[in-house]
Amino acid sequence: MHITVIGTGYVGLVTGACLAEFGMNVLCVDLDEAKIAALNRGEMPIYEPGLEDLVSRNVAQKRLAFTTDLEQGIGVSLVIFIAVGTPPADDGSADLSQVRAVAADIGRLMNSYKVIVDKSTVPVGTGQLVKAVVSENQALKINFDVVSNPEFLREGSAINDFMRPDRVVIGTESEHAAAIMKDIYNVLYLNETAFVQTNIETAELIKYAANAFLATKISFINEVANLCEKVGANVQQVARGIGLDGRIGKKFLHAGPGYGGSCFPKDTSALAAIGRRAGEPLAIVEAVIAVNQRQRQRMVEKVATLLQGGFEGKTIAVLGLSFKPETDDVRDAPALYLINAMREAGAKIRAYDPEAIAACKAFYSEDEVFYAADAYDAATEADALVLMTEWNQFRYLDLERLHGLMAQPVFADLRNVYDSEKMRGLGFKYVGVGR
Ligand SMILES: NC(=O)c1ccc[n+]([C@@H]2O[C@H](COP(=O)([O-])OP(=O)(O)OC[C@H]3O[C@@H](n4cnc5c(N)ncnc54)[C@H](O)[C@@H]3O)[C@@H](O)[C@H]2O)c1
Repeated sequence: MHITVIGTGYVGLVTGACLAEFGMNVLCVDLDEAKIAALNRGEMPIYEPGLEDLVSRNVAQKRLAFTTDLEQGIGVSLVIFIAVGTPPADDGSADLSQVRAVAADIGRLMNSYKVIVDKSTVPVGTGQLVKAVVSENQALKINFDVVSNPEFLREGSAINDFMRPDRVVIGTESEHAAAIMKDIYNVLYLNETAFVQTNIETAELIKYAANAFLATKISFINEVANLCEKVGANVQQVARGIGLDGRIGKKFLHAGPGYGGSCFPKDTSALAAIGRRAGEPLAIVEAVIAVNQRQRQRMVEKVATLLQGGFEGKTIAVLGLSFKPETDDVRDAPALYLINAMREAGAKIRAYDPEAIAACKAFYSEDEVFYAADAYDAATEADALVLMTEWNQFRYLDLERLHGLMAQPVFADLRNVYDSEKMRGLGFKYVGVGR
């Protein structure tokens, strides 16, 4: 089967490479010429474990190719995945301009029956919008079906998540299109992966509800962490104590600097906007967003309190820039929020991340932030160190060496990686979150 994926970003590239691995012939299209040229040279535009091998193997076996030629992309394939961005608009709703543009192109260029699959995260009603835009732009009436097939991969384990998903959601009004989708995911079907078949609107809402629920767990545990600090409890033990209850589950109960990344902030805002527009405001989701904003600000105050005199004239080492380990994605990363606030308050920043420095330079030039060669370089002469992202290499730092390098041994562990007593025993002025 020939498949085209339009939008070769995080989701488009992983989808394309994994579907090629499933045995499909996949063409990935993007309007970013530099990105496509790099991919055609074998260079990955993102850091994602295992992606480079998967892409190069499938390119070598001629099941995967990259182009900017949309006409070719639409012409050759039966199934067209839309995987373009849906960034937040000013009012928090999802900006659908990229999806609309692609739908118009598909309508204009389609030459035969197509299954048009929305993989981007889009508000309820977008499937019907895509249908209308495709129809409006067709010169000749050609039959097509629209499917909502939301993606649940996590950055940092994207390939495994795509290849071994908890479930595949297929929202469509057409049994013919559903059968084609099951053919595409046949490998998973044979592995007895759960398939959830729904109408388009339900599939669209499943994606937002899933992300909002996960974000809710994070904001919930962050509020509990703040309470722990006031009453002398330990949030890690609370999380374990509640997480062992199978109805609650252990995951997403790590207190920290608030959720970030390219999905949770925008998807919670978009779901809240969908609720307001539908006349059914989602009070819990609105609260989750507010708690997250407050948590970010609390982290700034936490570091300022540790420093006593505040940030003016201080040098702060920031370890970790990506919003989580094993990715170089810094979109809406808590580290960037903190760096911004600390710089505004007069601090100088020495930052280090194993993979995300290049991405961070798009936000802060080398004149604005000193990018260190490693964690120890970042800590040199720093008045405080803030651990923002729990990369494995930050879990086993040589703490005595760090202590010796810093101007003041002040350590804000915003991911609760280290043991408080041990850190204080080593002479650090140490604080975690909720302990
Ligand atoms: N990143 C994730 O972890 C993740 C997970 C699940 C779902 N999603 C959703 O998937 C969608 C894509 O996210 P992403 O992180 O891959 O975004 P991205 O910004 O990394 O990629 C989007 C790509 O689309 C391209 N593009 C835009 N308009 C185009 C057009 N008209 N024709 C061809 N290409 C075009 C851009 O150049 C870019 O390369 C979003 O809706 C997102 O919410 C993302």
